[in-house]
Amino acid sequence: MRNFAISTAIEAGKILRDYFGRKITISHKGQIDLVTEVDLLSEKYIKEQIGSHYPKHQILAEEGGFTASNSDYRWIVDPLDGTTNYAHGYPIFCVSIALEYAGKLVLGVVYDPTRDELFVAEKGLGATLNNRAIHVSETTLLKDALLVTGFPYDIKTNSNNNLNYFSRFALTARAVRRDGSAALDLCYTAAGRFDGFWEMHLGPWDAAAGILIIAEAGGKITRFDGSDFELYPPKTRTLEVLATNKLIHEDMIKVLSDDFVLPKQ
Ligand code: IPD
Ligand code: CA
Ligand code: CA
Repeated sequence: MRNFAISTAIEAGKILRDYFGRKITISHKGQIDLVTEVDLLSEKYIKEQIGSHYPKHQILAEEGGFTASNSDYRWIVDPLDGTTNYAHGYPIFCVSIALEYAGKLVLGVVYDPTRDELFVAEKGLGATLNNRAIHVSETTLLKDALLVTGFPYDIKTNSNNNLNYFSRFALTARAVRRDGSAALDLCYTAAGRFDGFWEMHLGPWDAAAGILIIAEAGGKITRFDGSDFELYPPKTRTLEVLATNKLIHEDMIKVLSDDFVLPKQ
């Protein structure tokens, strides 16, 4: 299944690369939430591959919803993470494929076709980038940290939109980036390129593979308040991720807490 997931992610990535920069059909799922014909082509390819190799497995894919079965295996697929970037010709996007067994993440594969970077993690066996082991960074102080985040698609209508946290971290960390692909944000944190990542209102397909990759690279993953990470939160909570190199985790929780006060500069 590891080899299957890797070759499927690479082939789907080739679809993204082939259409990149070409004139493609783009539709709106919401005011600023796009879906392109390439999201759909990539998802169709991945679902067909899973269906032909593992016809009994469940599939949770971003554009096509959930294919239920009584199998213990569930594939969680984001066929194109970074759609807004893709639609604008900004080359930061990827394919993300994760596998759960009996409700636990066991495999995560993220492929960036622009840079030909393949991130893989298998539960208990560590994380790799192009077959070389990766590890989170050793940055210990938030003031020296490079962080990354993202904003929800309802940013214009929901005041719980991360702008407050963005300004807090912009003033307490070294710098903050917004790259537009949560899956790559998690992988880059796993590889030590970023020291920490936080985001709210994600879908399980955005996070599943990257979460296992950062966990296997020695990182720490919780909700914003330090409580256990939930890939499928109940309706009363949104999917929140705070994923770090472990060392700056407590400091990031403090900045995300309701009673945080900016220190005097
Ligand atoms: C989005 C990206 C983005 C994040 C959004 C996601 P999509 O996924 O991961 O970085 O900020 O919350 O929905 O729509 O490009 O697959
Ligand atoms: Ca996504
Ligand atoms: Ca997507």
